[in-house]
Amino acid sequence: MKAKDTSWKEVGKWYDQLVSKEGHYYHEEVIFPHLLQWQKFKPGESLLDLGCGQGVLARKLPKEMEYYGLDAAKSLIEKAQKYSHHHYFVRDVTEPLKIDKKDFDYAAIILALQNMEKPALALKQAALHLKPQGTLFLVLNHPCYRIPRQSSWGVDEEKKMQFRRIDRYMSPMEIPIQMHPSQKKQSQKTYTYHFPLSDLTAWLRETGYVITRLEEWCSNKESTGKFAKMENRARKEFPLFLSIEAKRLD
Ligand SMILES: C[S@@+](CC[C@H](N)C(=O)[O-])C[C@H]1O[C@@H](n2cnc3c(N)ncnc32)[C@H](O)[C@@H]1O
Repeated sequence: MKAKDTSWKEVGKWYDQLVSKEGHYYHEEVIFPHLLQWQKFKPGESLLDLGCGQGVLARKLPKEMEYYGLDAAKSLIEKAQKYSHHHYFVRDVTEPLKIDKKDFDYAAIILALQNMEKPALALKQAALHLKPQGTLFLVLNHPCYRIPRQSSWGVDEEKKMQFRRIDRYMSPMEIPIQMHPSQKKQSQKTYTYHFPLSDLTAWLRETGYVITRLEEWCSNKESTGKFAKMENRARKEFPLFLSIEAKRLD
């Protein structure tokens, strides 16, 4: 059966406006500061970015690094090519990548693994193009606390606490997301694929990696107003992103 087209080609214009050349709020304030603190990338090193969108990561790396960005959405790759002169390719990264380079120092999948119907196949492709002991970075919407339609905020009036409600977790789910909910059925759609953490760690093991680091990153936003204390506390308790560093074994 043909794989589902999970590319963001239909919403490319909207996503490009949201992210712009430098990244959206959470790229700028949370993801890239943590990632660049975590790994000191050096000129001369190489990185393969799978599901790169319009290549926002490319522009955060040292200029002399060799960067390849692959994404299934042609519209986003065209934007990426306008923004910077790196190697960009339109590819479904759950299929053979058809690029010659097979000794990348790093691979990254930033906020994209949960948009792929068969995430394990993308992990496999990354492994095939990393050098032995090469490093993979994954940044995910936290799969334990941010499950579209199945997680939400609530307020416990007695305890004066904001809590996180999780309705489903262990079941893998395909969740269609309307990008413009006010347009209802006419709205363009993308897909999120939820999987529990244990599925991800099994896929990493099966595709030849060992996890070497795991972090959970919270939002740095601050509320003001009547509910500020409760909201700020909750924000520090429930991370937005789960980040994993894994090394390719040989
Ligand atoms: C939320 S965007 C993230 C893009 C970029 N990494 C960023 O942080 O801005 C998810 C991306 O995954 C891409 N994508 C989804 N399925 C894909 C697949 N099978 N192969 C390649 N890219 C895919 C989409 O086209 C989209 O650009």
